[in-house]
Amino acid sequence: MKLGRTGIALLGTLVVAGTALAHTGATGIVKDRMDAMSEIGDQVKAVGTMLKTGALDLPRVSEAGEVIANHGGAAMVKLFPEDSLHPPTEASPAIWTEWTKFQALADDLRSAALALKSTADEGGDKSQIAEAFGALGETCKSCHQAFRIKK
Ligand code: HEC
Repeated sequence: MKLGRTGIALLGTLVVAGTALAHTGATGIVKDRMDAMSEIGDQVKAVGTMLKTGALDLPRVSEAGEVIANHGGAAMVKLFPEDSLHPPTEASPAIWTEWTKFQALADDLRSAALALKSTADEGGDKSQIAEAFGALGETCKSCHQAFRIKK
């Protein structure tokens, strides 16, 4: 899948909007996961900006992939203990009724981030980075559509 300019811009916008609004007043595990998601969002934004402006810093892309991968998989599901739904969370209760699916999406995030990292490590060109970045963006979208309630 290839992410066009519009896609990249859109992804950036979504990430920034999500970060700016939701954080206020969060405590405990909800704050921890919002912080983790925001850090993921910052990395996505950094790579998205590079793709938009054309100045590709491959070691930085690799680092972004690594940081996101470290937040994915088991690290991410740990931030969602059962019924941790205190305000201002945007997490959906469906996470715990569809736990296997949620876990799989957290794993997808990790794999896609690692794929972005290896594309960068292997000296990928702009279209290869854009493709890996687009695939990563799809994992955010899939999980948010299923499990995040936009306030
Ligand atoms: C496995 C599911 C899952 C994946 C994958 C995922 N997210 Fe999230 N994300 C969530 C959930 C659930 C919330 C709401 C958490 C809450 O409010 O308690 C969230 C919230 C966010 C927020 C808002 C944080 C805040 O401060 O309120 C941002 C930004 C975000 N995600 C970015 C991303 C990006 C970028 C990706 C992909 C690179 C991604 N997420 C991948 C489930 C996921």
